[in-house]
Amino acid sequence: MPTQQELKQQAASAALEIVEEVAGPDVIIGVGTGSTADLFIDGLARFRGRLRGTVASSERSAARLAAHGIPVLDLNDVERMPIYVDGADEIDARLHMIKGGGGAHTREKIVASVADRFICIADGSKLVERLGTFPLPVEVIPMARAAIARQLVALGGRPVLRDGFITDNGNVILDVAGLSITDAPALELRINNLAGVVTCGLFTQPGADVALLATAQGIRRLERAG
Ligand code: 5RP
Repeated sequence: MPTQQELKQQAASAALEIVEEVAGPDVIIGVGTGSTADLFIDGLARFRGRLRGTVASSERSAARLAAHGIPVLDLNDVERMPIYVDGADEIDARLHMIKGGGGAHTREKIVASVADRFICIADGSKLVERLGTFPLPVEVIPMARAAIARQLVALGGRPVLRDGFITDNGNVILDVAGLSITDAPALELRINNLAGVVTCGLFTQPGADVALLATAQGIRRLERAG
């Protein structure tokens, strides 16, 4: 049986094949954050000189890209990216996701929103029937922490402040266990609408376009319907 690390590597390698298809001197790739995204970044090193550059979804990924000599651009200077490649904490068959285990989901959502296609790379264990076993990360402006926590409790959740963690945007994260996520798009809108929430880790508007899920039997590719 392959290890989880080997499966993550396989998923990252499958995404690099898509980079091979879209690469070109004017092409900019959006890059996610996390251990699977790290493997993708390491593989991206072989495209040095064959891409115009990347946009990173975190300081951590930007530093890793730069260490490989891959240009990292400011999103404000970029109009178009054919793909954004990132991992997920959970993904369902509709390609809705929970993200933010690394606390980078706000920038991930922003960079992904500029890309034509979101390619999710993960080991097959991330595929779930219903989202919500993984506590939902919610990025919150610090002064709203307690008020938002109370409202998340009213929604049925058990929010816990992520200890000692400050996002790249200077905010805090509440990890919310116990939510019953029967309508993920509605819950995403509802939580994002609370004053003081920057963004929650539900990605449904839209979710991923393609998921490359590595299993012991090989890569399982799922595409968003429609
Ligand atoms: C970071 C994320 C990551 O994509 C998610 O946590 C998955 O990480 P990993 O690839 O390490 O399992 O959303 O904010």
